[in-house]
Amino acid sequence: MTLKEIKDRFQTELKLLFPREEIDTFFFWIIEKEFGYSKSQTLAHSNETISMGESIMIHGCLNRLKKSEPIQYILGEAQFCGLQFKVTKATLIPRPETEELVNWIATDLKKGPSTSLDLLDLGTGTGCIAISLAKQFSTVKVTAMDVSLKALEIAKENTNFHKVSVDFILQDLLKTEGLPKKFDLMVSNPPYVRKSEARLMNENVLKYEPKEALFVDDTEPFVFYLRIAQLAKSHLKPQGVVYFEINEYLSKELIQALEKEGLKILELRQDFFGKDRMLKCRPQ
Ligand SMILES: C[S@@+](CC[C@H](N)C(=O)[O-])C[C@H]1O[C@@H](n2cnc3c(N)ncnc32)[C@H](O)[C@@H]1O
Repeated sequence: MTLKEIKDRFQTELKLLFPREEIDTFFFWIIEKEFGYSKSQTLAHSNETISMGESIMIHGCLNRLKKSEPIQYILGEAQFCGLQFKVTKATLIPRPETEELVNWIATDLKKGPSTSLDLLDLGTGTGCIAISLAKQFSTVKVTAMDVSLKALEIAKENTNFHKVSVDFILQDLLKTEGLPKKFDLMVSNPPYVRKSEARLMNENVLKYEPKEALFVDDTEPFVFYLRIAQLAKSHLKPQGVVYFEINEYLSKELIQALEKEGLKILELRQDFFGKDRMLKCRPQ
């Protein structure tokens, strides 16, 4: 088969699932990953016949797309803040709204003195928040925690790939008694989707992304935030701050719960779509 024939097959077999442009994008990404061809090189090589082995591999990707598997898991990588991150099914795929949280923190850090700071990322997953900030701010000493060993292994690989230094802690933050030191800044995008909200979510998220990275019981939707608030009270340095990504449907209730737990809300921010998505707080 030629690359052109495969491109046409992608269109035929995926046309009921995705828009035309998105199918082409998937095709070009897969070819780039496997052959190292840019889009223009792929087009230039469109009459090139590929080997049987290559054809089997590309059809394997096509079949996975047909089963709604996210392209990031098929490629084994995702883009976040302009950087490439390895992803596996043990890690959440980094989201654009989380990039907005990182950008907020980066803007605030640039306004402050360029002294050495200690930062803790709770529930680090791929390490996307921790690593993006470590990459931008060489004076920030970054620590990252997760309960998932498999996720931390991927985060470690991402750290090596980006040549930054991050201290990892394998720990259940709901059970941790304390932290190894005090921090200037804590950040977390914890699990915050109530199980009852699963019916609103896309099949590809529900089928493929790690449930423990996403869901909380409806009876205690703020369990991670409240625990982090407690850790912030005991382990933030004076003037230290906490940044959270939050559930768009629960901002008012979460603010009340955090205030009751002893945090002062400095700012609530909306994401690109105008949804309540980020909070900045500090112990009162
Ligand atoms: C919503 S994901 C965020 C991942 C990454 N920070 C990001 O923004 O893409 C939540 C992360 O919290 C981790 N997590 C879940 N329960 C945890 C717990 N009890 N203690 C520590 N981490 C936990 C999950 O493994 C997952 O990596």
